[in-house]
Amino acid sequence: MKAPVRVAVTGAAGQIGYALLFRIAAGDMLGPDQPVILHLLEITPALPALQGVVMELNDCAFPTLAGVVATDDLNVAFKDVDYALLVGARPRGPGMERKDLLEANGAIFGPQGKALNDHAKRDVKVLVVGNPANTNALIAQQNAPDLDPKQFTAMVRLDHNRALSQLAEKTGAHTTDIQRMTIWGNHSSTQYPDIHHATVKGKAAIEAVDAAWYKDSFIPTVQQRGAAIIKARGASSAASAASAAIDHMRDWAFGTQDGDWVSMAIPSDGSYGIAPGVIYGYPVTVKDGKYAIVQGLEVGAFSRERMDATDKELREERAGVEHLFAKR
Ligand code: NAD
Ligand code: LMR
Repeated sequence: MKAPVRVAVTGAAGQIGYALLFRIAAGDMLGPDQPVILHLLEITPALPALQGVVMELNDCAFPTLAGVVATDDLNVAFKDVDYALLVGARPRGPGMERKDLLEANGAIFGPQGKALNDHAKRDVKVLVVGNPANTNALIAQQNAPDLDPKQFTAMVRLDHNRALSQLAEKTGAHTTDIQRMTIWGNHSSTQYPDIHHATVKGKAAIEAVDAAWYKDSFIPTVQQRGAAIIKARGASSAASAASAAIDHMRDWAFGTQDGDWVSMAIPSDGSYGIAPGVIYGYPVTVKDGKYAIVQGLEVGAFSRERMDATDKELREERAGVEHLFAKR
């Protein structure tokens, strides 16, 4: 067994938390030889419910669970953490405008960014799941001036996995037969699921499906999948979101497969003409714990329009939260 690492999860008593913690504790994220100490953050009123989750975690007697810290104190939650999964967020209430939502989340992700800055390991890997995930990640990053901005990422892996599943079903293949799927942009309905570079059993995906299905069925289905699940379940996706978070962190820690890539929302460096700084979904490869944007992909007019639309939305979101960034 290796020395334990510390993994922070916020919103730990929520529904994603309930689907996520047991898998992290069981070794699904960092492997069966990597003990983890879970740092669970909740708001004060949710601490009794969190205690119940802690009891259940202990009752699993997982070989890889080396300890649990449950707290409502940010400074305790992020002390010396190697990984931070920021799941807890303010959900959109009735009549709430996007602007109100961003403001409410600024009050959460600003202080969390600062606490990570002050207490986390210097190479902490941060994944923001709580919506609006990309811009929440930007707020946290902009309140953590001493950490490398590249350590702040947001989740588009659920969209990536949804896209794999839709394409697999359409082509009669398994998801593992598909490589080089890409989600560009925001984890929102403007995201652009792109199959132009994807292959199914080694053959071009775009030639395996007809253009009308791609444009009128595949793209909107992936873009609207979150809403479809809310409609069907009466609650937003939880187990699939938790699973995607595990995939994101595992691949960031251990690397991507040769010849394939994954989608991660990361700070744009201007690649593919995207506004520098916004947290944008890109195709990335990972080696030795560092991700790199896949370069040199051909972008036609169809893709360009969609990549720009989701970039525009992210720039607008950024403009709405800039007042929440720490002064430099
Ligand atoms: P939930 O309401 O069941 O749980 C959220 C938990 O966060 C609650 O227990 C709440 O007490 C806690 N919380 C709120 N503010 C907090 C704070 N400041 N610090 C710590 N904890 C706090 O919600 P859920 O279903 O678990 O979803 C969590 C978030 O994930 C939502 O914003 C949801 O929209 C988002 N989500 C994102 C994706 C994605 O792909 N990026 C997918 C699904 C859901
Ligand atoms: C999802 O994609 O399932 C979540 O982000 C929920 C939502 O609001 O779409």
